[in-house]
Amino acid sequence: MTTIGIIGAGEVGSQIARAALLHGYEVVIANSRGPETLENLVTELGPKARAAHAADAAEAGDFAVVAVPLKLVNDMPAEALACKIVLDTNNYMIWRDGHFEVIDSGEKTVHELRQEHLPTSKVVQAFTHIQAPRITTAGRLSGAPDRLALPASSDYPEAVELVTRLYDQFGFDTVDNSPLSESWRTAPGQPAWTELAHQTRDELMANLKRAHPLAAPTRDCPTEGSPHVRQ
Ligand SMILES: NC(=O)c1ccc[n+]([C@@H]2O[C@H](COP(=O)([O-])OP(=O)(O)OC[C@H]3O[C@@H](n4cnc5c(N)ncnc54)[C@H](OP(=O)(O)O)[C@@H]3O)[C@@H](O)[C@H]2O)c1
Repeated sequence: MTTIGIIGAGEVGSQIARAALLHGYEVVIANSRGPETLENLVTELGPKARAAHAADAAEAGDFAVVAVPLKLVNDMPAEALACKIVLDTNNYMIWRDGHFEVIDSGEKTVHELRQEHLPTSKVVQAFTHIQAPRITTAGRLSGAPDRLALPASSDYPEAVELVTRLYDQFGFDTVDNSPLSESWRTAPGQPAWTELAHQTRDELMANLKRAHPLAAPTRDCPTEGSPHVRQ
């Protein structure tokens, strides 16, 4: 039995928990306020789910999901997540998070920041491109013409492999958009974002190619005086 440690018990975390339980996983789920506040959720989820503090959920998981908006200062239990594959569902939402200069300038992607916060984990962007309620309803059997594809980006191939298996179990295809520095191609505002509700694998791959480089990462040979185009 594989256990998933899920940090974040809001819309996405709870919905990934429901999907995981339907597919034979155990889940240990946490929020910021403590397990006693998750009594109703774990009662609904049933006996293969329990609530815990974030560090305990991280410890318990064979792999982990972080379904928590990213803060500039790390608030995730990095030690307990060490050496584990960590699925990061975060999207950068200026209306919610405010402006992060490091992202706005194109220096880093939001998932690279999560990787920096969790330097000994293997971070992989996952479940960013599906509205939470659809995680349990939009899945289709492999080969269905209307099967949706979701992106995964990581600096670790084994993390993308794990997400690919999980997506497949939940009824979705994967488009590998690695490494993490490429995940700007799916950021809010990009074609892959605006069409997120209905992209097959071919459509998502085409939308990744249509992505517009919004800003320059400092490491990529910037052209003085003009916006740098990422390679
Ligand atoms: N909603 C969607 O359809 C959707 C789809 C794809 C991706 N996303 C992205 O996924 C992330 C989560 O979205 P959401 O809609 O699920 O958010 P949400 O409903 O607001 O839930 C956030 C969860 O994170 C928990 N949390 C916050 N800080 C924490 C900490 N330091 N330690 C442990 N838990 C903490 C919150 O716990 P408390 O309630 O106790 O504070 C809450 O359970 C966001 O980055 C969002 O952009 C959302």
